[in-house]
Amino acid sequence: MSLLLRFWPGSIAIQKPQTRLSPRFFDPSQRYTPCKSSWNFCSCLKPNQQNRAHFKSSSVPRDSPLSGMEDALMGYLFGKKRATDVAHMVWKHVVQKGDTVVDATCGNGYDTLAMLKLVAHGSNKGFVYALDIQKDALDMTSSWLDKSLDPTEKQLIKLFNICHSKMEEVIPTNASVRLVAFNLGYLPGGDKEIITRSETTLLALEAAKRILMPGGLISIVVYVGHPGGWEELKSIEAFAARLSTEDWICCKLQMLNRPSAPMPIFLFKR
Ligand SMILES: C[S@@+](CC[C@H](N)C(=O)[O-])C[C@H]1O[C@@H](n2cnc3c(N)ncnc32)[C@H](O)[C@@H]1O
Repeated sequence: MSLLLRFWPGSIAIQKPQTRLSPRFFDPSQRYTPCKSSWNFCSCLKPNQQNRAHFKSSSVPRDSPLSGMEDALMGYLFGKKRATDVAHMVWKHVVQKGDTVVDATCGNGYDTLAMLKLVAHGSNKGFVYALDIQKDALDMTSSWLDKSLDPTEKQLIKLFNICHSKMEEVIPTNASVRLVAFNLGYLPGGDKEIITRSETTLLALEAAKRILMPGGLISIVVYVGHPGGWEELKSIEAFAARLSTEDWICCKLQMLNRPSAPMPIFLFKR
């Protein structure tokens, strides 16, 4: 099984794994095989003006576990998808129906809803723990969920007006948590003075590390365009750099010529 993202002068190719992906599909111990043009799953895009203007959808089959991933990554690389779109797509490859997941910064509730869709299905009743320090944010999330879900589904979401550094106080100790997601910064449309801060973000990351099950993911979207954003990014990078390579796979996506663009960061626990 392998995922291949190769950069050749003038072409980009993603190779689909041969079999169903497990949450641990980013196993670096696997040997990557070269992309062959005869494979259905490879697409090559020339980075010329035409391809950028008419970004083509993927050649990955719809029922593939990678379906959507190629679009999200290529869209991000060509400036057509947001960091949050990439994050949502990565979640899909990790989270399973019935899982317990945590939205550490629920804000307006868009991420919370996306998570619920991943964990809830039929009798597989997963749970989303959604936290925010702002009561306004929880109200926004609650009304967005009322509009988007039926009452039974909404019951699977537990809202807490609490700092994410205290997540262990509200998440049951016996819960196996597959995903803890942070979408940092301030509440869009809200008070821009109320932002996530390095100190509590780091405490929350430590807590996330403790509650995350093997095969789980800490997903972070970092914004650096506001005061304190760069400092927060640097402390997250330092946190990630200290995680052992035996137990964690850590990566960041960054636009080199758009230094203020949001950055998705993924910390996979082996
Ligand atoms: C970018 S917004 C989140 C957007 C949200 N995930 C969505 O889908 O709409 C960041 C949120 O983090 C919240 N926040 C800031 N500091 C926090 C903390 N220490 N604990 C929990 N939430 C916090 C803010 O109140 C704000 O609502």
